[in-house]
Amino acid sequence: MNKQETIVKMFDEIAQSYDLANRVLSFGIDVSWRKKACSLSFEHLGKKSVRILDVACGTGDMILHWQKNAKEQGIEIEKVIGIDPSSGMLKVAKEKLPEIEFIQAEAKALPLEEESVDIISIAYGIRNVIERDKALAEFHRVLKPGGILAILEFTKSENDSILDSLASFYTKKILPSIGGIISKNYAAYKYLPDSIEEFLTKSMLNRELEAIGLEPLYSRSYSANISTLFIAKKR
Ligand SMILES: C[S@@+](CC[C@H](N)C(=O)[O-])C[C@H]1O[C@@H](n2cnc3c(N)ncnc32)[C@H](O)[C@@H]1O
Repeated sequence: MNKQETIVKMFDEIAQSYDLANRVLSFGIDVSWRKKACSLSFEHLGKKSVRILDVACGTGDMILHWQKNAKEQGIEIEKVIGIDPSSGMLKVAKEKLPEIEFIQAEAKALPLEEESVDIISIAYGIRNVIERDKALAEFHRVLKPGGILAILEFTKSENDSILDSLASFYTKKILPSIGGIISKNYAAYKYLPDSIEEFLTKSMLNRELEAIGLEPLYSRSYSANISTLFIAKKR
């Protein structure tokens, strides 16, 4: 099994307890990070009717936020699709959102036509994509000109501030134990801090977006620099 297959299998294994672990480990703060991603994307897009693709959709949480936020802002969702390679995560998503179209696929090969969506979101997913260059190229292909890419991710720390040390202590020392207890899969929650260490800093990811033709409009870290929101626009 290659590295990508191992990661997807790990998500299959923790799918049933994923939502509970998420709420406990983020103390529910992830709700505000997701809300911000939706409202800023709508603001930067400036359209009243939108087609949305949520990549690495997992159990569908981000889609629930798109729906709620669109309703609050009077925006019509023409279509929303969720894509993820994990059958286990998609099974939970389909139970929660039976009316939504979910497709089992990887970010590096999106089964969608070019220039067919207004917004692509990927929440805590891009870190798990091994062939990130291909995935970013796919996002660029599938987005309409002027379309928005919203990324939520745990990025590698850029400096050694006290806040960063606190966040790092939490993700490395506390989170794997609690996540391990809830999911009965310690390795999966140990993978989280390890994958953050292997991932990019905020400025490195912004450079990759720029290189592919996605103009970074906004990037900001929240909650002791734990989570970062990136908003970029296809030129
Ligand atoms: C941490 S979960 C995030 C799920 C969801 N977006 C959320 O915000 O709760 C990461 C997701 O990335 C998916 N994933 C892993 N490798 C992927 C790939 N190559 N392409 C797309 N998604 C992938 C996993 O199956 C998993 O559902």
